[in-house]
Amino acid sequence: MFNNHKHLIDISEYSDSELMTILTTAKAFSQVNERAIKKVPTLKGKTIVNMFNEPSTRTRSSFELAEKRLSADTLNFGGSSTSTVKGESLIDTVMTLDAYKIDCIVVRDRHAGAPYIVSQASPAVVIDAGDGKHGHPTQALLDLYSIWERKGSFDGLKVGVVGDIGHSRVCGSLIPALKIMGAEVTVVAPGTLMPPAPEVLGADHIAYNLDDVLPDLDVVYMLRIQRERLEGAPFPSLREYHQLFGLTKARERLMKPDAIICHPGPINRGVEFDSYMPDHPERSVIIDQVYAGICVRMAALYLLLGGADNGLAS
Ligand code: CP
Repeated sequence: MFNNHKHLIDISEYSDSELMTILTTAKAFSQVNERAIKKVPTLKGKTIVNMFNEPSTRTRSSFELAEKRLSADTLNFGGSSTSTVKGESLIDTVMTLDAYKIDCIVVRDRHAGAPYIVSQASPAVVIDAGDGKHGHPTQALLDLYSIWERKGSFDGLKVGVVGDIGHSRVCGSLIPALKIMGAEVTVVAPGTLMPPAPEVLGADHIAYNLDDVLPDLDVVYMLRIQRERLEGAPFPSLREYHQLFGLTKARERLMKPDAIICHPGPINRGVEFDSYMPDHPERSVIIDQVYAGICVRMAALYLLLGGADNGLAS
């Protein structure tokens, strides 16, 4: 339990001071991750199930490393290797896992709402590791952390979220998180990649032309085209999308000198970026975001699983 929060599913339930506590705790865990021995006994005796029913590189690996570095016992579970392929329901699967007296379930699922259903069926702490088009709260936390590290404050920071807004679960957590922290958010996409009612996202501005807004942005947050979730043809070709909405070296001339570039990964070079911009030596924080993933997930696990009772990094 962290304040009154048992789970991390809907980031909009957290206040600015609570999100800042997670970021400062993550900063403390960053020091653990810099040590030769990257391990603390904080969650010794706790059992965490990583239930990933959808592919993942970053989220899965960083949760697993975060748990190991906190000395928790972990069970990696999910997908086609489980009895769900024999017809077992999500709730029956969760009740089976609960019989082992587990403490936490980290859920990645292609169905929006799956972590909430797990939280209703289980006494364990539930952390949403990305569900359908709904949300991805620990992604938002690592994004906040990376932006905070580079910009120092969110107050009035102009953040543009660019690309496949309509199919993005990252938006479902990132936009509310940025708004809670005081940033000004613009969503930018072709009309066919906006949701039917983009105002419900809670962004301050909705734009349909990247070149018009790029000069104002402090943070340019590029989204992946969710090819696996596209229905029909939302744009004539990936080449045309790249020309109009791709962040390219040519388009960089429109950016503020100190504007930074974020992306949740995995990236599609040649679609949302050219081959240069994701590796930009001064602007890109994409690899910093990956590192932040371990730090914020350690912080979230520590705060939700009562690690504070055992001390931070002894
Ligand atoms: N950003 C993100 O969730 O990446 P993975 O799908 O690789 O976990």
